[in-house]
Amino acid sequence: MTDPVAAHYGGGGGLADRIAAGLRRAGKDLDALTTADLATVDEFHIRGRKATLELAERMRLSADARVLDIGSGLGGPARTLSEAYGCHVSGIDLTQAFCEAAAVLSDWVGLGERVAFRQGDATDLPFADDRFDAAMTIHVAMNIPAKDKMYAEARRVVKPGGIFAVYDVLQGEAGDVLFPVPWAREPSISHLATPEEMESFLAAAGFEILDVQDSTEESQHWFEAMTARMAETGPPPVSFQAFLGGDFPEMARNQVRNLNDRRIRTVSYICVA
Ligand SMILES: C[S@@+](CC[C@H](N)C(=O)[O-])C[C@H]1O[C@@H](n2cnc3c(N)ncnc32)[C@H](O)[C@@H]1O
Repeated sequence: MTDPVAAHYGGGGGLADRIAAGLRRAGKDLDALTTADLATVDEFHIRGRKATLELAERMRLSADARVLDIGSGLGGPARTLSEAYGCHVSGIDLTQAFCEAAAVLSDWVGLGERVAFRQGDATDLPFADDRFDAAMTIHVAMNIPAKDKMYAEARRVVKPGGIFAVYDVLQGEAGDVLFPVPWAREPSISHLATPEEMESFLAAAGFEILDVQDSTEESQHWFEAMTARMAETGPPPVSFQAFLGGDFPEMARNQVRNLNDRRIRTVSYICVA
């Protein structure tokens, strides 16, 4: 039986083909694509590529680093890191359709040799102890109830002294999330931690937290701008609608309310193993 989280994200099939069709409609030459051309669909988190680059800057990456991206989605953040820092990034994701599309998109932009994707579960990583110099996870834990296991696994595979960067959606102080949202159409697959719980989970897994940044206000402005654009011109030619379907505009409108009301917060953590 398909996991309900993978079913939420991976419905539809033929994802890379549908993205290619959208890019052609937008007049893009598929033989001359850049990572920036894909950013409206493959950086599947609030504040997109800008947020990935900001997080990466705080990770102190070198070109010979081996980095793990836990919940790598379509591979946008992995490619952004590899392109910006020259490092090798391995991605793991529960949704098989995303892993397959991530490999195709990486070849399109000439990064197929520097990034690799495989299907797997963040709570049971298929890697040896101390395998990576650093790891990151962006907007993934909100689908995972067993956060203790997720962070313990991250700690196990990152070398002592390595950086673990987390950027996630957290439970805010102002009440329950309004659904649907991009990570869940209803509450059964949504598992948000509060900021206090996050710090406890990370510490219990053996990480020392070096830096915490709350970006809720910027996230609110980002979603407000996105919903205003979509109301005027519809979604961009390649967007999260490619896999979330026709209710993505409603999800985006709910996100404006969720962020505005502080039902959710976006927070990032730089930790050391
Ligand atoms: C909102 S997307 C973010 C994808 C990517 N990190 C990004 O920022 O573009 C959430 C991703 O988490 C993945 N995911 C959810 N639960 C997971 C689990 N238990 N193990 C691995 N991946 C998981 C989903 O398949 C999905 O690709």
